[in-house]
Amino acid sequence: MNCGRLSVSLEENGYDILIADGLLDGIGDLAGRLRSDGSTVAVVTDDNVWREHGERLSASMSRADVVFEPIILSPGEENKSIQGLASLYDEFARLALTRGSLAVAFGGGVVGDLCGFAAATWMRGIRYIQVPTTLLAQIDSSVGGKTAVNIPRGKNLAGAFHQPSLVVIDPVTLETLPPREMRSGMAEAVKYGAIRGAPLFDLTASPLEPCLSDVIYECCRVKCEIVSADELDRGERMLLNFGHTFGHAIERESNFGKYRHGEAVAFGMTLAADIGERLGLTSPGVADALRRALASRGIQAEYPGSAEDLLPALAADKKSVGGGVRMVLLRNIGTAFIRSMSFSEISLALESAAVR
Ligand code: NAD
Ligand code: GLY
Repeated sequence: MNCGRLSVSLEENGYDILIADGLLDGIGDLAGRLRSDGSTVAVVTDDNVWREHGERLSASMSRADVVFEPIILSPGEENKSIQGLASLYDEFARLALTRGSLAVAFGGGVVGDLCGFAAATWMRGIRYIQVPTTLLAQIDSSVGGKTAVNIPRGKNLAGAFHQPSLVVIDPVTLETLPPREMRSGMAEAVKYGAIRGAPLFDLTASPLEPCLSDVIYECCRVKCEIVSADELDRGERMLLNFGHTFGHAIERESNFGKYRHGEAVAFGMTLAADIGERLGLTSPGVADALRRALASRGIQAEYPGSAEDLLPALAADKKSVGGGVRMVLLRNIGTAFIRSMSFSEISLALESAAVR
C-alpha cells in the first residue's frame, strides 16, 4: 500500500499531504501545531460528514486540548454560493476568528472550496487544513489551493488561490461514502491516468477493484508534480481540466444539481476525446479506451443531453477566450495538450458522425 507523505513544493507556502488509514484520529495534534494563537479552531463540515465522522474528529481535538467549534452546513453544491460564503463569514465573526486562527475544511470538495475561499478572504487570509472525506476531494480538490464559489452565471467564477497549510487524507473515511460519490471520484482518477499516467489509467481500468490507497497516492503524486510546476494555472496545470470544459457547462446547464462533478467530467472527457479524434488530433481508439475504463468502474460515459446545446454555456467558462475556448485534448492515453478552438470548430466536430 502506497501510504505516506507527499510534498507540494512551492516558492512560498509549500505543504505536505499526509495519506494513511487512521490519520483523522491525529487531527487534533496537527491542528494544535498549526494554530498561531489560542483562538477557537473553526471546523467547517456538512451534516453527512459530521454524522459519520464528527465523533472521531471531536475526540482527537479533545485529546489534544484544542478548542474547536464545528460549523455544520447543509450538504450540496448549491451551498457553494455567495450566500453560503456570507453565512460562513457570520460564523467566523461569531467565533471571533483572528488573523492567527485556523480553519479546518472537513468534508468533500464543496466544503473544501467554500471553507478555502472563506479562509482566503477572512481578514485577508488565514491558515486552513484540508481534511477531505470524498474520493474526489482526496485525489483532487483538497490539493492545489484552488478555492471558489459558484454564481448563477457559472461555476467557480468567484475564487482565489489559497494553499492549505496541510492536507490530511484518511482513506478510512471513504467507508461511509455512497457508491455514486465513489464513482464520481473515480471518474477524476480516470482523468489523471488519461492525462499523465498510462499505468494509473490501467489501474483504474482494471476489471479488479483497484486498491483505493494506491489510487489516492498516485493521483496526489501527479497533482503534486503539476501544482509544484505551475501553481497559478498558467500552463501545465490546465491539463487537469481535461473533461472540465464540457463538464462545467453540463453542471451549469443542470443548475449544479443533477450530476455529480465527476459524472459531468466523465461526459466531458468522452466528448473531448470524440472531438479530438474527429479532428485527427487524438489517436483513433482513445475515446473507446476511455469509455471502457469508465464502464469498468460503473461510470456512465455518454452525456444524455445535446452537446450542441452546451455551447452557450462554454462561453461562460473561465477558460473561454474571445470566440472560443482552450480545450484540453488527448494525444494518446497518458498524454494531454491544450488547443484553442473556436466555437464553430467545436460545433462542426460535434455535428460529425464520429460523435455518438
Ligand atoms: P461534495 O462535497 O458535495 O460531497 C458529496 C456528498 O458526499 C455530500 O453529500 C457529502 O455530504 C457527502 N460526504 C462527504 N464525505 C462523506 C463521507 N465520508 N461519508 C458519507 N458522505 C460523505 O462533493 P465532492 O464530489 O467531494 O466535491 C465536488 C466539488 O468539488 C465541486 O464543487 C467541484 O467544483 C469541486 N472541485 C474543486 C476542485 C479544486 O481544485 N478546488 C477540484 C475538483 C472539484
Ligand atoms: N482541479 C483542477 C486543478 O486543481 O487545477
